[in-house]
Amino acid sequence: MEKFDVIVIGSGPGGYVAAIRAAQLGKKTAIIEKYSTMGGTCLNVGCIPSKALLDSSEHYYNITKSVADHGIIVGDVKFDFSRMIERKGEVVKANTTGIEFLMKKNKITAYQGVASFENSNTLQIALSSGEKISIQGDNIIIATGSKPSSLPFIKIDKKRIITSTEALSLKEQPKSLIVIGGGVIGLELGSVYSRLGTEVTVIEYLDRIIPGMDDDLSKELQRVLKKQGIKFNLSHKVSEVKADKNKVVVKALNKKDEEISFEADYCLVAVGRKPYTEGLGLDKIGIEVNKLGQIPVNEHLETSVKGVYAIGDVIKGAMLAHKAEEEGVFVAETIAGQKPHIHYKLIPGVVYTWPEVAGVGYTERELKDAGREYKSGSFPFRALGRSRASGDIDGLVKVIADKSTDEILGVHIIGARAADLIAEGVVAMEYRASAEDIARMSHAHPTYSEAIKEACLAATDNRSIHS
Ligand code: FAD
Ligand code: NAI
Repeated sequence: MEKFDVIVIGSGPGGYVAAIRAAQLGKKTAIIEKYSTMGGTCLNVGCIPSKALLDSSEHYYNITKSVADHGIIVGDVKFDFSRMIERKGEVVKANTTGIEFLMKKNKITAYQGVASFENSNTLQIALSSGEKISIQGDNIIIATGSKPSSLPFIKIDKKRIITSTEALSLKEQPKSLIVIGGGVIGLELGSVYSRLGTEVTVIEYLDRIIPGMDDDLSKELQRVLKKQGIKFNLSHKVSEVKADKNKVVVKALNKKDEEISFEADYCLVAVGRKPYTEGLGLDKIGIEVNKLGQIPVNEHLETSVKGVYAIGDVIKGAMLAHKAEEEGVFVAETIAGQKPHIHYKLIPGVVYTWPEVAGVGYTERELKDAGREYKSGSFPFRALGRSRASGDIDGLVKVIADKSTDEILGVHIIGARAADLIAEGVVAMEYRASAEDIARMSHAHPTYSEAIKEACLAATDNRSIHS
């Protein structure tokens, strides 16, 4: 039986990064992936394909809606939906084969098959060929990720009632689409189709969209997406979803308990994801998942079984690729005897709509609930030269700082390139900068990043220069 220092189950951003870091640290490492391509949810049916379609649909939207304002006259603009989907596939392939290359480069043994525990240091792999083999590891890292979740009364038929996975590979552009869930997936994929001309209707249980983000961002995003054509039904409780060959009917109760009926070509169910542990044989080693289906871990991300670790979507915390990556590095370094650290509050969250939305640290709602004294400063993009030049004037930056020390407690951005801008907030908070520290740093002009400086000026002493 082949023996390894470290075996990783799952090749998503948690698993493949853990494997590379373990190999860098001199560990004999293996990785097991049940699918024929590496990269997990993120590369195959998550982050990468969704961003490819967001970029394609954004080009189309801009050509049809905003370039005329720049004096660019275009003729009859059409799009080829199947080419968009095909291109997305090419982008995915380039990324997944890149991971295969990285496995080889780092001399990581890769198995394609389903892994399950025989005992705490032995795994059986049901290889794609049908053969079963066993391998042993001193340390095993579970990085099996997550799957879309649904509501108990909804039957996902994958034809008309779909999850994000199917929404990324539709054969036709829907004329109309109901999205259940105004969270990250619902709004990103809702944006893709809305930009292409699909009539998109969002049904959200809560009274706001993107509930994990600061309330000001959620209000502003709703305002802008509404302007782009997406219809919102907040505080609606879905009660029934039924499909026939050609359409879907969704029933929901509004605030007044009245039943409203919606009809569309397709219904995307985007109400969250659940950890994936099926077939792993956790019972064989005495690991019990919690009520949410997550594998419980301690502060070293070790499970109740010594030498068995778990990372990424399968454990508690944000279901984000970069969180999984940090945990992959953390566990590999822990196994190698190092003392790594993850500052979970400084893991940024991003929504890749346009405008993009990004946040790090505490939201105002969290600080209010915790009774912490704070001050905040905002700056609207429409007051920024760079935004006026490009035409991206929607959105704002909000910086929240401790009332007495001025230490930055949260940075929240909705606007052009927020996804990239948020890195400044992360660096500032990692080094425990005050709002005034950032306000006194030179920010190149004209750039979108000046909005962060201005919001810091506003938070420092209400002394923003340009608003
Ligand atoms: P996964 O990526 O889910 O990988 C787990 C892997 O384990 C899978 O390949 C699975 O096949 C394999 N596996 C499971 N069980 C076994 C077994 N028994 N044996 C062998 N292999 C097994 N996050 C972001 O940060 N940014 C984004 O822009 C973003 N966009 C997203 C868009 C969509 C549509 C979706 C669905 C998700 C998105 N996410 C995004 C979330 C991100 O994809 C996940 O947080 C991330 O993939 C989690 O990584 P992971 O390594 O924990 O698990
Ligand atoms: P989510 O948690 O972001 O949003 C789910 C939404 O559905 C919430 O607004 C919730 O209130 C709503 N909801 C729940 N039950 C409902 C019901 N019965 N009726 C109507 N609405 C209901 O989950 P989502 O969008 O499915 O994404 C799953 C995970 O994938 C997220 O945790 C996210 O972190 C990750 N992801 C990250 C992306 C990114 O980083 N850009 C992109 C896409 C996904």
